[in-house]
Amino acid sequence: MVKIAVIGSSSMDLVVTSDKRPGAGETVLGTSFKTVPGGKGANQAVAAARLGVDVSMIGCVGSDHYGSAILENFKQNGVDVTNVEPVTDTESGTAHIILAEGDNSIVVVKGANDHVTPEYVEKSLEIIERADMVLIQQEIPEETVEYVSERCKEYGVPLLLNPAPSRPISQKVIENAAYITPNEHEASVLFDGLSITAALKQHPNKVFITEGKLGVRYFDGKKEVLVPSYEVDAVDTTGAGDTFNAALSVALAEGNNITDSLRFANRAASLSVTKFGAQGGMPFRKEVEETL
Ligand code: RIB
Repeated sequence: MVKIAVIGSSSMDLVVTSDKRPGAGETVLGTSFKTVPGGKGANQAVAAARLGVDVSMIGCVGSDHYGSAILENFKQNGVDVTNVEPVTDTESGTAHIILAEGDNSIVVVKGANDHVTPEYVEKSLEIIERADMVLIQQEIPEETVEYVSERCKEYGVPLLLNPAPSRPISQKVIENAAYITPNEHEASVLFDGLSITAALKQHPNKVFITEGKLGVRYFDGKKEVLVPSYEVDAVDTTGAGDTFNAALSVALAEGNNITDSLRFANRAASLSVTKFGAQGGMPFRKEVEETL
């Protein structure tokens, strides 16, 4: 069984649904409020575990009620949490989500996720060294992403960087990563001044640009390829990107070619949006394989 290490954020999502998204200075009445596990790192760890691989999470939670619930959720989903520590001086990360008009708006308060520093990750280097694939995102400090990219390069372990939420990234990190999965907005920040076509051409078989309902675009060394997504009735798109990244890393780590891996990831992501909550619709492997 392949081993995936996820270094990233674990949060509690506080989700309000409403018919209308409030504008600045406006108050609207919502229709429901729910608290569900989230955080890009945790979502990716849970999504990978549901696909039946061995997943270790490296992260931090607060030593509070949300922290205990996040840890329990990891355990229920079969994610190894030996390297997820409760920190005492900061609250757990939270994401404040409005679901309205068919899309989400999110404010993330990183909290304990800011404790996922290079020094913290250094205590778990063995996990990274033994992994078949390492997954990382950007709800943890920038220097940690840089540090992990260096270690992955040194150990010869492929790193999949999901550059979300967007922020500029050093050239060194771009070079060290084996795969990078920006959406169109993140790609424009990452490859400032370059067109999508030029950015893809510079990074054959490495940069996969997610274009929502259209699918995923990459350059295969000769031509641009668009792997289409699957049409479904979406209930909640939160966590679709995380499911995509997890499934892509699983399929690549298992030795599948890029197009097949992207199809698998698109299918998993499309299933994930059919239920409420970032992790609510994340599929198990059987469901993905049966619907491919
Ligand atoms: O990618 C979705 C996640 O982003 C949500 O679960 C929320 O926690 C935000 O961080």
